[in-house]
Amino acid sequence: MDAAAYEAAVKRVEDDPEGYWRDLAKRLDWMTFPTQIKDTSFHKHPFHIRWYADGVLNVSVNCLDRHLAERGDQVAIIWESDEGDISDNFTYRRLYEETCRMANVLKAKGVKKGDRVTIYLPMIPQTAIAMLACARIGAVHSVIFGGFSPDSIAGRIQDCDSRIVITADEGLRGGKAIPLKRNVDEALEQCPDVTDVIVIKRTKADVPMKAGRDAFYADLKQGVEATCEPEPMNAEDPLFILYTSGSTGKPKGVLHTTGGYLVWASHTHELVFDYRPGEVFWCTADVGWVTGHSYVVYGPLANAATSVMFEGVPNYPTTSRFWEVIDKHKVEIFYTAPTAIRSLMREGDEPVKKTSRSTLRLLGSVGEPINPEAWLWYHRVVGDSRCPVVDTYWQTETGACLATPLPGATAMKPGSCAKPLPGIKFELVDAEGKPLHGATSGNLVITDSWPGQMRTVYGDHERFFNTYFSTYGGKYFTGDGCRRDEDGYYWITGRVDDVINVSGHRLGTAEIESALVGNENVAEAAVVGYPHDVKGQGVYCFVTLKADVTPTDILQAELKGWVRREIGPFAAPDVVQFAPGLPKTRSGKIMRRILRKIAENDLSNLGDTSTLADPAVVDDLVKNRGG
Ligand code: PRX
Repeated sequence: MDAAAYEAAVKRVEDDPEGYWRDLAKRLDWMTFPTQIKDTSFHKHPFHIRWYADGVLNVSVNCLDRHLAERGDQVAIIWESDEGDISDNFTYRRLYEETCRMANVLKAKGVKKGDRVTIYLPMIPQTAIAMLACARIGAVHSVIFGGFSPDSIAGRIQDCDSRIVITADEGLRGGKAIPLKRNVDEALEQCPDVTDVIVIKRTKADVPMKAGRDAFYADLKQGVEATCEPEPMNAEDPLFILYTSGSTGKPKGVLHTTGGYLVWASHTHELVFDYRPGEVFWCTADVGWVTGHSYVVYGPLANAATSVMFEGVPNYPTTSRFWEVIDKHKVEIFYTAPTAIRSLMREGDEPVKKTSRSTLRLLGSVGEPINPEAWLWYHRVVGDSRCPVVDTYWQTETGACLATPLPGATAMKPGSCAKPLPGIKFELVDAEGKPLHGATSGNLVITDSWPGQMRTVYGDHERFFNTYFSTYGGKYFTGDGCRRDEDGYYWITGRVDDVINVSGHRLGTAEIESALVGNENVAEAAVVGYPHDVKGQGVYCFVTLKADVTPTDILQAELKGWVRREIGPFAAPDVVQFAPGLPKTRSGKIMRRILRKIAENDLSNLGDTSTLADPAVVDDLVKNRGG
């Protein structure tokens, strides 16, 4: 898309929204093409978000069947193993047959349309196959990132009342085995309603199998047919649930539906990455996060792309790993997270320069603000100054990308996600919700719906409304702070709520606090984020111990380990500081602003502490700062 085409699209969606959105839906194969296009209201009375509501389609047909005639022998997924010892190509035909087999296995287990299937798998092709198999029979998948702990798995299984879990014996990442089956076993002690566990063999490790509940996929799949009738799905039938952290309470089950989600994922995959038929596209995200859903699986496959699925990590066996994989599989488009770029940048240019990367045409970044230094290094060293960088801003809730520079249409400014895509209406508002104009900073809201928007919080529609639409009445609140410059470019400055972004992983500080107070030694905890060179943000915990507990280094390490076990290794605190008291207002509210400043070591800006119930606690916190 060039600049004129971008302007024309922005104008068209303004002048003829119905026509624009209808045309967009034509990129999919429908069993019944929708006559109802957009039917949405962000206001409480009435509140609803529906897209293409009378359309009928099946996501797996759009990702597989419709490509078979012309692209059946084209590679759909290139799988690259952790060690690099195995790569395996799945053509569209093979992926189709494997999906049908898994769909038939699920059906044989009694899984029906609307049932929730939990997927806790490593980055192996069977993960994509499991997702597509659910889509084929109309089951709703809930993928849980392989880094989550048994407790986190249990919470997610219980929340959506899932009776079946697909997992693997073990995962492999950076040469380390991850005990996936063991984690599931432990989680299921709290989930008596789960009747079936399907186990895929990845490492062939010996794992305990519970009779009557657990079965190896390799056995279940024997003799199963490689065709399976797709379930006709209404556009608004759920496709998946993905749990994500918010500022309060337990993680929310973000629900995406069939038609609008796939329209938006496939449209943005083509538009944002300027995807051209035959190209190899590599998104490094884990399928356990939304980026993996939309840009490893659904977007690329709907577009008949060749998508690389990478099991490993950026720095194993060497820090050239990413660039070697690019050369090995002749990757044209590469999409990763700022945290990976920053950690590789620290290794210098040589591990990059010794590889060719001559096939690269476009680079992408996602998940957190990218600092200009990392952006410039990515552009200059990785992309040899010839590949545009698309800094794509979006969220689990938004389904797929919302704002990014478009190669050929928008000039790039390092660190800015440029402008919203046609049809996405950004607005900056002040704390009271008053719209702000011109070059300014404010809270980022979106004033109208787009097809890829989440439809509800699973099982709690009220929470959906309250979380996103009640702060600034009638507008979707992203939770992000943002600056708009004199050219109308947007610069995301980070979350303004109690969500933190650690190595591109989204965490609620409330979740970590709740894990900490679950420890028998802890009376109270307050967690904040602070700037971290590589991870973007680090986790800083202020912990008040129970009266009879002595603060020791051992206990500090124990609490870090505790959070790792309770939530997952990626949530491990960077700093635990023992605090005899926390700064509270007289009404008992913790003043997080002060804690953030202490964590950031910005001690000259603590602000007014005189309103605190006990101002002296701040002196103690400052004196004993950790780090
Ligand atoms: O704060 C924004 C940040 O990541 C949050 C969404 O996280 P999650 O739902 O896990 O989805 C991540 C992958 C899409 C946002 O609220 N974020 C995401 N992309 C960017 C970003 N911040 C700045 N620039 C980005 N490109």
